[in-house]
Amino acid sequence: MELPELSSVTVDIVVDNFIDVFEPSLPGVVERAAPGRLKKPLLAAHGLAVLVTVQHNGKSRRILMDTSNSPLVFFNNLEALEIPVESIDGLFLSHGHPDHYGGLQELLQRRQQPLDIYLHPASYLPKLLITPKGRMGPWTLDREALLRLGGRLQENTAPVVIDGMAMLTGSIEASVSYETPLPGPKRIVAGQEEKDSFEDEQALVVRVKDQGLVIVAACSHPGITNMVNYAQKLTGETKVAAVIGGFHLTAGGPELIQNTITGLQELNIGLILAGHCTGFRALTQLMAAFPKTFMVSCVGTKVSIG
Ligand SMILES: [Fe+2]
Ligand SMILES: [Fe+2]
Repeated sequence: MELPELSSVTVDIVVDNFIDVFEPSLPGVVERAAPGRLKKPLLAAHGLAVLVTVQHNGKSRRILMDTSNSPLVFFNNLEALEIPVESIDGLFLSHGHPDHYGGLQELLQRRQQPLDIYLHPASYLPKLLITPKGRMGPWTLDREALLRLGGRLQENTAPVVIDGMAMLTGSIEASVSYETPLPGPKRIVAGQEEKDSFEDEQALVVRVKDQGLVIVAACSHPGITNMVNYAQKLTGETKVAAVIGGFHLTAGGPELIQNTITGLQELNIGLILAGHCTGFRALTQLMAAFPKTFMVSCVGTKVSIG
């Protein structure tokens, strides 16, 4: 699939699980917000919202991936980072989990303008979790409410290029044997509860001139190695400048963590910025395995490529 080479992309972490003012920057590439200079404090939460700004041929578009787990955290951080709701050109919902669409209805309510919402239609299926603490959910993304509030739904199952600049992968094709859906997450299809295949989860992929791919993943339920491999296959580009997002590794256990580290080592990624559902234990192992290229994704981090 033809994906144009952008002049640059910037990725702002609006909501994530972590904030640590002592995490270093990488000048020119990874800059951290200085909370003391912001007009209000940043909040961290178990959720994700990432603003991707793409530049191509003098044109700039702001695509927001996900809206975190609650309006409280989402709008607080948009205000702290001075990102007006009307400045968002399109919304990409990575998958149908509530820690990613918690602020979506209120975002539509607060805007004067309608908003394009890109998502896989399986995101509307009720989702639940079986955890050591018991059953949680089901949660359902309300399609009718999104339409009523001015959402212009752009549903896709296969790869698409949006605004001529960024690709959404559609359902992820599996390529490695160690990344299979975990047993805890479930979905309800025609009244029947089943293991969630995560056909709804997609990554956002851009290609930057002379740099390679920038892959933004949200929860990586289909597996981060599978997602990177699939992005390479779809675009025909092997060079990976950055992989950003949640990798969902601690929940998969030590073997998955180790296999994923080995898989990522083979991919020779320029920057690994991991946070959200990766899990603290997995993050510490990634940091040890990639001392030069790994950084923690904190709220207020800005990544600039190109
Ligand atoms: Fe998720
Ligand atoms: Fe998540």
